[in-house]
Amino acid sequence: MRGTVTYRGTPNIALIKYWGKRDDKLILPCNSSISLTLKGETTAVKGVPFNLYTKTSVLFSDKLAEDAFYINGKKQDLNDKDVAERFYVINQLRERAGNKSHVLVVSENSFPTASGLASSASGIATLIYAVSRALGLNISEKELSMIARQGSGSSCRSVMGGIVKWEKGTAPDGSDSFAHQLYPASYWPDLKDIIVIVSSAKKKVSSRAGMAQTVKTSPLYESRQKVLDKHIASVGAALRDKDLSKLAETVMKESNNMHATMLDTTPPIMYMDDNSKAIVYAIEDLNKNEGRAVAGYTFDAGANAHIITIEGNKDKVINQLKGIEGIESIVVAGIGNGPELLGEDESLIDSQRLAPK
Ligand code: PMV
Repeated sequence: MRGTVTYRGTPNIALIKYWGKRDDKLILPCNSSISLTLKGETTAVKGVPFNLYTKTSVLFSDKLAEDAFYINGKKQDLNDKDVAERFYVINQLRERAGNKSHVLVVSENSFPTASGLASSASGIATLIYAVSRALGLNISEKELSMIARQGSGSSCRSVMGGIVKWEKGTAPDGSDSFAHQLYPASYWPDLKDIIVIVSSAKKKVSSRAGMAQTVKTSPLYESRQKVLDKHIASVGAALRDKDLSKLAETVMKESNNMHATMLDTTPPIMYMDDNSKAIVYAIEDLNKNEGRAVAGYTFDAGANAHIITIEGNKDKVINQLKGIEGIESIVVAGIGNGPELLGEDESLIDSQRLAPK
């Protein structure tokens, strides 16, 4: 067993969305999804700048009196659902290592938490690397993604860098539902995600509760399954050919389709707000004026927009968004390499005091 281990990981943005489970316990999705693992370092364009890192330090020690988890300096209630998701992952690995020590986890997010920016994805993906290394376990990326999946579905895609696919699988035990890299980050270096923050508030309906309600009550959800096959094939071909227009058109349709099933849920779920809608119209206008899709919007379970485009179209997109008053911040993110191990000097834990630094 090692001392303090620190990793840094990043969120991902789904081009093909995961919204709905076929098994709630094992977290097996109704459909496969595809995402970009984002780069931590961003370029600020407007408002308060932020990067996209989750940094997590972990220490297992017999000297610890209890398990403890700190996020952004605040000691967490271990019964909180987000923290429970993380402890699911820790406990799986702790059992596997046959380790009975308590654990201290100290984690920091450099971006607004729980605002559709997938802090749970980067949180769990980063944690799983730090915990398995601290426990001296040697586990393949594929298997790590399967453990992460059971903490929170979309986090399994942040276990790898580049462009990542989470296979829905068909096995009832989940043995074929894992994430794998389609392309490394270097494959399409010009591809960008322009993140437009219109709200940093915590979302009202958690994605876990929201998607369960959609599967249960939305008549549209069934027809989404048919549309998804087309969207997955189209995104696959667009990535293969580096065809931005095709990619942008498909991600917009895909995001709109998912949000339509959310609205079709009883009671309705609406993550997008008036600012989100203004961004949709602005990008639609831009594409119309350009005579082809030069950028595509996509929204997760939150009001903030992700505009998928290439470096050469960045200024056009930013210019197009200028008039929207409700925009708080804009940052430009590239595609990243996934979780990375940091040195001892970067640790967030004071190993003498067994406490956060
Ligand atoms: O993994 P969860 O429970 O946070 O769900 C994520 C759902 C979306 O962000 C809306 C879509 C996705 O595939 O990331």
